[in-house]
Amino acid sequence: MNTVYKVIITGASSGIGRMTADFLDNLGYEIIGVSRRKPNDVSFEYQLCDLSDETSIIACTEAIAARHEQVDALINCAGVGVSGALEYANADDIDHIFDVNIRGAILFTQKIIPLLRRAHKAKIINIGSVAGPLTIPFQTLYSMTKSALRSFSEGLRMELKPFAIDVCLLMPGDTKTAFTTNRQKGSIDKATPYGNRIERSIAKMEQDEQQGKDPLTVAKAIHKLLKKNRMPISKTIGFEYRLFLVLNRLLPKSWVIRIIYRLYGK
Ligand SMILES: NC(=O)c1ccc[n+]([C@@H]2O[C@H](COP(=O)([O-])OP(=O)(O)OC[C@H]3O[C@@H](n4cnc5c(N)ncnc54)[C@H](OP(=O)(O)O)[C@@H]3O)[C@@H](O)[C@H]2O)c1
Repeated sequence: MNTVYKVIITGASSGIGRMTADFLDNLGYEIIGVSRRKPNDVSFEYQLCDLSDETSIIACTEAIAARHEQVDALINCAGVGVSGALEYANADDIDHIFDVNIRGAILFTQKIIPLLRRAHKAKIINIGSVAGPLTIPFQTLYSMTKSALRSFSEGLRMELKPFAIDVCLLMPGDTKTAFTTNRQKGSIDKATPYGNRIERSIAKMEQDEQQGKDPLTVAKAIHKLLKKNRMPISKTIGFEYRLFLVLNRLLPKSWVIRIIYRLYGK
């Protein structure tokens, strides 16, 4: 039997979260899926939750606590994207992406920690993105939330260490999921001073994602982390993304910014 067996996965209705839930479910893990809508065809437990709404988080985590005395792992996978120029981002869009990607992840995790503490050795895996360390123009709000997840993960890792709760930030690169179509698009009006830069950048990003990795690759990486005695502080998937992050650390930041600007900003 697996050493980690009861796993909560937020964002389990689609993409990476769904693939991970199905993959682990098939391996014999007990899955508790969480998101706003339950797909018709899931074979694991499901709890509805809107992570942008604290009342919904409280109701969902109480429902989980009523059924489970302890859980072995939490995978914070739910996330949304917003694209467009920062200049035109409205307050609702800014609130929404931070509410789901950061505030929701924090509030949900807080409520699950007592259940994780009761496990022999527990794990939290936060799904970040390479777009965290590598800020992508016209996706800056998204990059900001994924950067904040790094501090969240590192802080949690230290705070929870005495309770044998291990924390890792997993940063996938482009992955072929519905994230592309679910992304909220800000203004791409060519009449703005940005011309068609926004449209071009988003089109490139969408193409990269749709030519990206199969979400099964991410599910397998999550499974590997769950099996580890001690997880790394952070991890990315695939040689090319590991290389990007090494170069990001080694090269002068001005070079990195110039390269990203050429790819996504011009
Ligand atoms: N796809 C990529 O290229 C890529 C790359 C790096 C990182 N990531 C990250 O991977 C994670 C999963 O993304 P994905 O590609 O699998 O996208 P996806 O297919 O769009 O899945 C997003 C998941 O988040 C859930 N969600 C969205 N808003 C929510 C809310 N308010 N409350 C609760 N759940 C909510 C959705 O469920 P409901 O609609 O049912 O609520 C869905 O299950 C995200 O954190 C994303 O940032 C994706």
